Amino acid sequence: MAEEPARPSPCLIAIFGASGDLTKRKLIPALYDCYVAGSLPERFGVVGLSRTAYDDASFREHLEPFVRRFADAFDAASWSAFAEHVHYRPADTASGDDYPRIKKELRALADHHGTGENVLYYLSVAPHLYEPIVELLGEHDMVTEGKRWCSLDRENPPWQRVVVEKPFGSDAATAHRLNQVLGRVFEEESIYRIDHYLGKNSVQNLLVFRFANAIFEPIWSRHHIDHVQITAAETVGVEGRGKYYDSESGGALKDMIQSHLLQLVALTAMEPPVRMEADDIRMEKAKVLSATRVPAPEDAVRGQYAGGTLEGEAVPGYREEGGVDPATGRETYAAMRLWIDTWRWHGVPFYVRSGKRMPRKTTRIVVHFKPTPHCLFRDHGPAGTEALQPNQIVIDVQPDEGIRLRFGGKVPGSRMRIAPVAMDFDYVEQFRSEPPEAYATLLLDAMRGDQTLFKHREEIEGAWRIVDPVAAAWARAGGEAVPRYPAGTWGPREAADLLAADGRAWHDP
Ligand code: BG6
Repeated sequence: MAEEPARPSPCLIAIFGASGDLTKRKLIPALYDCYVAGSLPERFGVVGLSRTAYDDASFREHLEPFVRRFADAFDAASWSAFAEHVHYRPADTASGDDYPRIKKELRALADHHGTGENVLYYLSVAPHLYEPIVELLGEHDMVTEGKRWCSLDRENPPWQRVVVEKPFGSDAATAHRLNQVLGRVFEEESIYRIDHYLGKNSVQNLLVFRFANAIFEPIWSRHHIDHVQITAAETVGVEGRGKYYDSESGGALKDMIQSHLLQLVALTAMEPPVRMEADDIRMEKAKVLSATRVPAPEDAVRGQYAGGTLEGEAVPGYREEGGVDPATGRETYAAMRLWIDTWRWHGVPFYVRSGKRMPRKTTRIVVHFKPTPHCLFRDHGPAGTEALQPNQIVIDVQPDEGIRLRFGGKVPGSRMRIAPVAMDFDYVEQFRSEPPEAYATLLLDAMRGDQTLFKHREEIEGAWRIVDPVAAAWARAGGEAVPRYPAGTWGPREAADLLAADGRAWHDP
């Protein structure tokens, strides 16, 4: 994972569902950035497939304003050079009838760009279409990587890989079925289950922080850590996605905790892998998830935002958002107390929470250490206990990336007074560069065949095993029971009570 990455081999990127938001906001701007950075393959083509009636020219025209807005730096000459590689073919990707034509057209584009047999199929479609599309790719012989033994070039066999977006299933059973369908057509090594949190630089830095430094690992256990808090807070509401958010796969528990936050838990809690290789890392993460106890009803809290004021503006409540059925009572906030049943973590709670319409956008991991065994300075703090806070390591995932170690320091002067101080690492200040967009990292990794930052099927199913009973209990309790919190606050009172019951409080940034 650490070595300077090789340029991927030539390939065609076929985006299924290309008229959707992800393509214009994330995928194409990220590919354009990679192109400008010279990291795309020497020969490549991108083809969008969906039902909307674009042709190459109108598709490029449709994409351009989004590249201007979302790419790192837009430049007209680079865009026109890049756009030459971007195509569009209208197709109903859920219908078998269209596949002979899709196959022919992909073949023609591969010949045109000289990309050979290598294809990255990117599924950016509605989740109910994943299975039919994968089956159709198989039926129409558009996946040949399993037949590498007959490849002409054995050293460098051609590949076809599939990238599957979230939501990956809506519970353990549906995720398992999707894994089976994928497994019938693709080898596990060709399946890329994407989680954009894993593409974030600071998430990868967590591995470096823990395993490239000798001083943290010895204290990274129940002997020194009191508890861990992981927060992913957003100021936005459901952003016009009310229909999805209200669906079976929506809600903070499934949309954020099952996918992104449990990955952060796994990375924080995992054992050192034997090697920095995809399967070693993924297996260690899967072990954490399998050791995580299913939360009891009193370990989980949900909430839903009501109208309120955020950043000086009045915002509507969730029930007033378009596409939302007030009766479902879908949670826009979820918090849980998790226990990891291993020697390392016995008795150390991991508190996770995620919410929309919070006062600030932030994703943060805070490791709270135990207090000193004996307090010499009890009477010397200028602000009572505040001054004698136990140590914390604060890992800021976004928006500002960095790591801070908080400890007590002596206030200058003749008296022995103590105040909390911090040692700070700020990513941008240190390296004088903005980290790459998560999608750029992940797309390049998929083209290179590096699965380190993609989820193994066991991680996905393990995460569903943890949240399924909570989701079921909330569904049984009904929508009326969901606590409300005003937009612009840190969630419902019940979430504060969850920690207060343990004599702790949330670390609100
Ligand atoms: C997505 C969720 O996976 O992550 C969204 O579906 C959420 O609801 C988004 O807004 C948050 O991502 P980020 O990178 O802004 O924290």
